[in-house]
Amino acid sequence: MKKLNILLAASLGFAAFVAHADVANAVKLEKKYALFAKEANPEYSGPSAVDGKFFFNRKIKLANGKEAACASCHTQNPADEGKHIVTNKPIKPLSPMVNYKRFSDVDKVEEQFTLHCNDIIGSDCTAAEKANYIAYLLTEKTPSVKK
Ligand code: HEC
Repeated sequence: MKKLNILLAASLGFAAFVAHADVANAVKLEKKYALFAKEANPEYSGPSAVDGKFFFNRKIKLANGKEAACASCHTQNPADEGKHIVTNKPIKPLSPMVNYKRFSDVDKVEEQFTLHCNDIIGSDCTAAEKANYIAYLLTEKTPSVKK
């Protein structure tokens, strides 16, 4: 989704992505995606963390017959470190509440969304799904207690 990418970069301003490493960028990005979602569908009333959570955990049958969800690699608690289901490599927490680096680079975010959405749902996610997704991640701030 190159066009959305350029629009996002232009409207947020590159400087915003360099100066602060905190949750503000994630919130801005969530709002931007929500604006695009409303443009596409005026009835979109989100961002909805509830829908985002559902989407995150929803298992989808892949082309190879296996089932996977975003949670398969990012774990059911996005405040926790994840683990790649194919390579077993650790993945830093996805929640911007515990990992300020998340959602701070708009190009990376768009690239990863496109990649993973295609992997799991077979197409890029919509702006509504992305807004809901970030809204949900922003609610996950407590890493699980290690056993
Ligand atoms: C097969 C494993 C896997 C699955 C399944 C997966 N991801 Fe990821 N995800 C990764 C890896 C690996 C990274 C990048 C590593 C890193 O940045 O730490 C990542 C990073 C991301 C990022 C980048 C955030 C940022 O700003 O750094 C987003 C957004 C993302 N994933 C969204 C999703 C969504 C949406 C789904 C479900 C539709 C999903 N992922 C499913 C492995 C996965």
